[in-house]
Amino acid sequence: MLKALVFDLDGVLTDTAELHYLAWKRLSDELGLDFDREQNEALKGVGRLDSFEIILKNNGKTHAYTQPQKEECAARKNEYYKELIKTLTKDDVLPGIPELLAEAREKELKTAVASVSRNAPEVLERLELTKYFDTVADASKVKNSKPDPEIFLTCAEQLGVAPENCIGIEDSQAGIEGILSAGMYAVGINVTVTGRTPDLCLCSTEELKLDMLLENFMRRE
Ligand code: BG6
Ligand code: MG
Repeated sequence: MLKALVFDLDGVLTDTAELHYLAWKRLSDELGLDFDREQNEALKGVGRLDSFEIILKNNGKTHAYTQPQKEECAARKNEYYKELIKTLTKDDVLPGIPELLAEAREKELKTAVASVSRNAPEVLERLELTKYFDTVADASKVKNSKPDPEIFLTCAEQLGVAPENCIGIEDSQAGIEGILSAGMYAVGINVTVTGRTPDLCLCSTEELKLDMLLENFMRRE
């Protein structure tokens, strides 16, 4: 039985996945590192420092930076990202999300945000979405980043709901792996699938209708 919806933030509730990309691109250009949208797919859902490690690895420069230098670069990217999120408002919530959250309330489903971003609380505030969620699990509450299931299991625990009674919604491969490993039903939004396949693949958040999700979820049971 479906009892809760667990949402990723960046790329699901709002298009901050694009802002993360722009901030990494600015840093990479400054450092003379090669970085494009294709490479960016592997960074989605991955924490800040780990993301920088992936960029360095793709450039064959894993050992070219000391740990403090890597941390300084990741912090610089975060400054660029913070500049970009300053302009976010409730108009930046992706289509279909407000309606889905309202339907979830009507049907008395619980709702949670599972984001590894340390900026998640600020982004949710700017989008005026904080009040729509029963709980938020962000990087401050978990040790392991996606694809580890920890953040999804933390949401389920905080909601008091078993993982098998949850639908998780994600735009990244790392997130889909986390949802599936947690034992939740996985809905992918425009995911470039390079590993385990989501239970349900959608092209856009506009397709997120509660009746349709319920129908697919029940079919699995
Ligand atoms: C995830 C994003 O939600 O958060 C990643 O998909 C990002 O792109 C990660 O690297 C960490 O975010 P932040 O804001 O703490 O640097
Ligand atoms: Mg995401």
